[in-house]
Amino acid sequence: MSDNRRDFLKKGTLLGLSGLASALLGKDKLNQIEEVSNQLESVAPFIMPKLPYAFDALEPYIDKQTMEIHYTKHHQAYVNKLNDTPSTNLDFGVSDAAKCKQLDTTSSTVVRNNLGGHVNHSLFWTLLKPNPKGEPNLPSGELNEAIKKNFNSFDDFKKQFSEAATKIFGSGWCWLILQDGKLKITTTPNQDNPYMKFATEQGTPVLALDIWEHAYYLKYQNKRVDYINNWWNIINWQKAEELYTKK
Ligand SMILES: [Fe+2]
Repeated sequence: MSDNRRDFLKKGTLLGLSGLASALLGKDKLNQIEEVSNQLESVAPFIMPKLPYAFDALEPYIDKQTMEIHYTKHHQAYVNKLNDTPSTNLDFGVSDAAKCKQLDTTSSTVVRNNLGGHVNHSLFWTLLKPNPKGEPNLPSGELNEAIKKNFNSFDDFKKQFSEAATKIFGSGWCWLILQDGKLKITTTPNQDNPYMKFATEQGTPVLALDIWEHAYYLKYQNKRVDYINNWWNIINWQKAEELYTKK
């Protein structure tokens, strides 16, 4: 569900509750409830997205325990930290991804790291899909054509992306982005992303790969290359195509 849709439903629910309260309790109580609703909205504006599959659905490529810890501990921690940060100086009338565009080098490191962490993981989950039988998993449609146009062939693209991901020093993310109508491979350190003004390359993410050790260490230990090679089996190309054609 999009952030705007989620906000709309949340506000709708609150309004519905307020209407019911008004009927039952009168106008003064309604005002009190609205005040509490506004306080709740300002206290906890960041929400965990629902994981679109079970924790074990990405087996054998990503194991259940890694997924469970990754989602319930790591991603949840970014969201909790954001909601615990008293003042983020962000315009909240836009999506979480668009909030990343508001950051600059003077922004709070806590907000930068945790907003990035929340946005990156929210995207990452949707760009994965189960493939229990290990069926061939390749892009199609406009995105496939664009990959061939920008990288010569899918195999060349796969090689370049895997190399970029392998070479990331420490923790970070590897991306396929759309930049001025062209596809480009780029990486970001920590929880930065290509929405942020200070990223080396800015653009709209089409693919995202988490290269933090927490994403693979339980199953793959130091074999990052094996994690990357297996990730190609569970890319949700339909979602990637959607991100690409939204351009
Ligand atoms: Fe992660």
